[in-house]
Amino acid sequence: MQKKGQFITLEGVDGVGKSTVVPYIEHVLQSHSIPYFITREPGGTPLAEGIRKLLLSDWDESVTAEAELFLIFAARAQHVAEVIKPRIEVGTWVICERFTDASFAYQGGGRHLPLSLVESLAEAVHSEYWPDLTVYLDIDVETALQRRAHRVQDRIEKETVDFFEIARTTYLKLAETESRIVKIDASVPLTELTRSVSNVVQNFVAQQQ
Ligand code: TMP
Repeated sequence: MQKKGQFITLEGVDGVGKSTVVPYIEHVLQSHSIPYFITREPGGTPLAEGIRKLLLSDWDESVTAEAELFLIFAARAQHVAEVIKPRIEVGTWVICERFTDASFAYQGGGRHLPLSLVESLAEAVHSEYWPDLTVYLDIDVETALQRRAHRVQDRIEKETVDFFEIARTTYLKLAETESRIVKIDASVPLTELTRSVSNVVQNFVAQQQ
């Protein structure tokens, strides 16, 4: 039987530099001739990208925490079924920018929804598909805010400093309890950060062989 592909996710608060490190992950996988696919959440399929637009748009009403969470999991259900599961099943590694840890951090932490609700939805949508490795890029919220200050802020990015502080605290707690999550200090210069990410992925690849 063909070996299943591995599922790697990248997490961190907005502005931490997730997209910047993706090519370094790709480089490691390419050097081992591992087939891989890059995707993101919310999004990754036409329907899920449509839901992403709804989620990140401004509305003339406040968006309830529950509406936000359920939209995210609707997108995730589609993404897992159409993209993540079929690729992993045929041995392709999937690299995803954000996954359910972001729901724990943002909707559980930032929006104060019960983590048990997020867990129940995760169980319903992807019980067999949890990341094998999660690279969590950690940075203080003020620095992340400065890093993204030059770009137009979407509905979630416009949230308060407190919202992102709670999201970060939730990520840090998850990183302490889940062995699949590797925390990396993202406040260091870029060359150091990309080296750390490459090393983590390199070690993970070595463990699979
Ligand atoms: P991105 O900017 O990293 O592409 O993510 C889009 C936004 O969606 C970002 O502000 C984080 C947010 N988000 C959640 O609030 N919960 C989630 O589960 C996911 C995947 C993203």
